[in-house]
Amino acid sequence: MAAPVSIRGVSRQFGETWALRPTDLEIKAGEFVALVGPSGCGKTTLLRLVADLVAPTSGEVRIGNDTAAEARRKRLLGLVSQRPAVLPWKRAIDDVRFTQKIAGKVGFDPAKVLRDFGLEGHEGKRARQLSGGMLQRVNIASAMAHDPAVLLMDEPFSALDEMKREEIGEWFDRELALRPKTVLFVTHHIDEAVMLADRLLVFSASPGVVAEIVSVDVPRPRDPSFRQDPRFVAIAAHVRGLLMHKAVALS
Ligand SMILES: Nc1ncnc2c1ncn2[C@@H]1O[C@H](COP(=O)(O)OP(=O)(O)O)[C@@H](O)[C@H]1O
Ligand SMILES: [Mg+2]
Repeated sequence: MAAPVSIRGVSRQFGETWALRPTDLEIKAGEFVALVGPSGCGKTTLLRLVADLVAPTSGEVRIGNDTAAEARRKRLLGLVSQRPAVLPWKRAIDDVRFTQKIAGKVGFDPAKVLRDFGLEGHEGKRARQLSGGMLQRVNIASAMAHDPAVLLMDEPFSALDEMKREEIGEWFDRELALRPKTVLFVTHHIDEAVMLADRLLVFSASPGVVAEIVSVDVPRPRDPSFRQDPRFVAIAAHVRGLLMHKAVALS
């Protein structure tokens, strides 16, 4: 189950700093939106506003008919942060169970969730015994275990090497086709964003401003060969140009 996300005039100021200038964005249920831009431009702040972890200075976030706070209470959200949230000595299966316990959702089997995520035989392993790629899958499995309507992901693959990163991206794309979710996904990796997203929010270097929204009108899940597609190449080059231009404009 996926839900639409409505961002209406949402801004956030920290003291004198505009982490996010007033922003409007309508995200359809099941849509994948990537947030790209230089460090400090407000990407994490936007995720935290949707997650109800930070309050807006102005405006309102809606998840379906719920406010962000109601959505949080109803456990409609799943959050994956940049640093793996799994403690080194914790077992993979316990991590998934913990998420379900917090969400108050019983009745489906944590071992099955891990099997679905390609982690059969690793359920009892502790986090420190798992590879980076496996750990990230546990992380994402935990965030998805209670079947949230919206997934908020902050640079979830940044700890992985390039090959693993592509592999997990492809796996995640297929996974979303099976269990659709609305996704907000922060990444510094332009190719990854173009590969996975329906739309890219490209932030400008001056903080808190969305410079352009770029659409990738190609159905998901996408075949790995899409990387060689002229449309992919053109969109990635356009986004790269936007980011370089904005960075230059500031210096
Ligand atoms: N809790 C906070 N207190 C003060 N300033 C903050 C806080 N969170 C973010 N900021 C500032 O807001 C801006 C945007 O930060 P952030 O959303 O983390 O950017 P990004 O994720 O794009 O790197 C930065 O200038 C950052 O220093
Ligand atoms: Mg950030």
